[in-house]
Amino acid sequence: MCGIFAYTGSKNKDAVEVLLEGLSSLEYRGYDSAGIYTPESGVVKTPGAVGALRGKVPKSFTGKSGISHLRWATHGAPTEKNAHPHHGGKEDIWLVHNGIVENFRELKERLTKKGHTFFSESDTEVLAHLIEEYLRSEKNFEKAVFKALGEVRGTYGLAIQYAKEPEKLIAARMGSPIVLGVGNGEHFIASDASPILKHTKKVLFLNDGEVAVLTPTSHAVYKLSQKRVRRNPEELSWGAEEAQKGGYEHFMLKEIMEAPDVVSNTLRGRLIQKKGMAKLGGLESVAKKLSHIERIIIVGCGTAYYAGLIGEYMLEEFAGIPVEVELASEFRYRSPVLNQRTALIAVSQSGETIDTLEAVREGKRKGALTLGIVNTVGSTIARETDAGVYNHAGPEVGVASTKALVSQLTTLALFTLFFGRARKLSPKKGAEIARELAALPKKLETVLKKEKEMAKLAKKYAHMRDFLFIGRKYNYPVALEGALKLKEVSYVHAEGYGAGEMKHGPIAMIDQEFPTFALTPRDSVYEKNVSNVHELKARKGLVIALATEGDKSIAKLADDVVYVPKTLEMLQPILNLIPLQLFAYYVAIQKGLNPDRPRNLAKSVTVE
Ligand code: AGP
Ligand code: GLU
Repeated sequence: MCGIFAYTGSKNKDAVEVLLEGLSSLEYRGYDSAGIYTPESGVVKTPGAVGALRGKVPKSFTGKSGISHLRWATHGAPTEKNAHPHHGGKEDIWLVHNGIVENFRELKERLTKKGHTFFSESDTEVLAHLIEEYLRSEKNFEKAVFKALGEVRGTYGLAIQYAKEPEKLIAARMGSPIVLGVGNGEHFIASDASPILKHTKKVLFLNDGEVAVLTPTSHAVYKLSQKRVRRNPEELSWGAEEAQKGGYEHFMLKEIMEAPDVVSNTLRGRLIQKKGMAKLGGLESVAKKLSHIERIIIVGCGTAYYAGLIGEYMLEEFAGIPVEVELASEFRYRSPVLNQRTALIAVSQSGETIDTLEAVREGKRKGALTLGIVNTVGSTIARETDAGVYNHAGPEVGVASTKALVSQLTTLALFTLFFGRARKLSPKKGAEIARELAALPKKLETVLKKEKEMAKLAKKYAHMRDFLFIGRKYNYPVALEGALKLKEVSYVHAEGYGAGEMKHGPIAMIDQEFPTFALTPRDSVYEKNVSNVHELKARKGLVIALATEGDKSIAKLADDVVYVPKTLEMLQPILNLIPLQLFAYYVAIQKGLNPDRPRNLAKSVTVE
């Protein structure tokens, strides 16, 4: 999610310039609209980025304090109306927000009944009205904020201001990062330390469930229970760029490490665990048409295509719907036979990939129901499909897709529950899938602890010029993705293959200089995968096996083993991906390359 920056100071600093300059260093987080509020001059909002905002802020716009925001929309298109800051109706409570208010609809209904008028489609706006409602009863800014936050479900990073106490800022954190800057006669609130470090290196990272009250000369941190907590600021040695990367050396590593939060955010408000069902608000408008769907075609490019290949296994096995997965760049040149009983699902992180967009247009021309699984709200594919589901993975800055794929697979699992429980999937099996989905963030934390182990493995194999990746069934696309990641960021030649295909050619390449990453989790095709490892070893091939925790037998066979926790076979790719992403990242590092900016590649391929 996007960027927050707020400031209060007693020096004669121009808060407007401080805020606009600070927002610029948050632009890397992605954005679609921007806004600023100061008690002295009011609010200015605009689609676009800081440049557009700067162009709209009149010369007369001043302030000694204020709040500002770069929006990465989740609810409501990226328009001026939906941009932050939002107010509570009387225009004295203003706030900016990162995250998702899960229960915003019920809060909005309740507040509307109490006479509130809403001005935007953003979920955020409900927070300002809720605080304003409590201000009426509590007659105290802080108390009103505590009361309101006690009713919020979802995630937030917040900066809040009350026009009648212009020097005061309130920050709050639940699931979206918030950093306080502790200056001399001035204080800051930001989504990460990058806009703060120019002013002070003394920072305080809020924890989930903490609220901070700031004035130019004071800061106090509380729990949501309003109990004061002693928190001492720390002195950061980072520069602004390291702060943008959360202390990681590259965005790619930061985004791999975000996998647990990405799954939590993708699932947020969408998993009905007890019933084993998925609530996908973005599909409600086409619910009737979905009930007549007899066939699904999934289109995408690159990593998004591989997500589709895994989704195919999920949907066919558990929803009983025939699925075809097509490279968007090919699909658009075929003469596909489609009709309104076909759903065409476009998977795209950017929502701007031209081949995928043209595939959607071809699907519409042929009468198919077009759905999107898109990460970027308001993107072209999101707007041109009939309906869809946003990933809520937050902006992905690294060119190589990592956290987006984790979110795409999580979303396809939700689609499987959605379609499956309307068809043959039993409540019991649905509930098991839902339970395992909910358990994924913890298991991802376990896999991410392999980081150093993967760095060591990368060092051992970084000199190799060729790699084979093999997997079967759900792990065949994982093998393809593992090979793509290695190619993309380290420029090493790598081939992904269905393990069963090895004998039909690729094994001719194998010798001591041509290692293989074999995906051999304990699943329904384990024995067949182990046979492939035997065949490779018989040709003196080096084998790195990705195996299930506790599988000692594979260790006797393979040259190296990476252990991964077990989950359902349909969800195992989400865990198995992580070591492959880390391996590719660290091979690139070994080769002195910048994994964030691989040569010849663009983050979004908007040209054919
Ligand atoms: C994946 O690491 C690449 N960056 C690339 O293959 C990417 O997945 C492909 O270009 C599709 O992009 P999209 O998801 O934004 O449509
Ligand atoms: N969910 C809020 C919105 O869509 C905040 C998005 C963000 O984190 O920028 O307005």
